Amino acid sequence: MSTTLELISHSPEETQSIGRLLGAKAQPGDVFLLVGPLGAGKTCLTQGIAWGLGVKEHARSPTFVLVTRYKGRLTIHHVDLFRIEDAAEAVDLGLDEYLNGDGVCVVEWAEKASEVFSNQCLWIEMEYGDEEPVRRLKLHTEGYRYDPLIKALAAQEGIEKCC
Ligand SMILES: Nc1ncnc2c1ncn2[C@@H]1O[C@H](COP(=O)(O)OP(=O)(O)OP(=O)(O)O)[C@@H](O)[C@H]1O
Ligand SMILES: [Mg+2]
Repeated sequence: MSTTLELISHSPEETQSIGRLLGAKAQPGDVFLLVGPLGAGKTCLTQGIAWGLGVKEHARSPTFVLVTRYKGRLTIHHVDLFRIEDAAEAVDLGLDEYLNGDGVCVVEWAEKASEVFSNQCLWIEMEYGDEEPVRRLKLHTEGYRYDPLIKALAAQEGIEKCC
């Protein structure tokens, strides 16, 4: 079974709120795969996820290192694959360890290593809306693992759902 939910964010703060809910509901081993062009809001969403997990710091894009780790209710591994050449490079850098641990893994530019990920992941595609500062977030997953989380987002007042 596959599930898709499309959300509209009207501001960075709304994107962070969506992230907070994801972080608040996240389970050990959850993997959030973020896809979208430069400036789409992947790091902004990750900040919310980290805060939802109880992290006090402000998550920043780890573009010059592969991964930044934050401690919250669960450990969050914030990975950015922007600079890798191919999936093998991600594997060499130890991505498997973060994916199979009991923390939460958030991966920016996940499409650069899509073959590395199992179907036990939640894909979140972010794109620019018709005008600033709108962003569209398309959540997609196989199976049932993320059902509670997707249901919570769908039921959350104040978050616009799309068609
Ligand atoms: N609705 C929105 N959601 C998220 N960010 C928004 C939104 N509207 C405007 N912005 C702005 O867009 C930028 C998003 O930056 P962010 O670093 O999160 O993007 P990114 O997808 O991580 O980019 P990169 O690929 O460079 O890592 C920020 O400057 C933010 O203020
Ligand atoms: Mg980023």
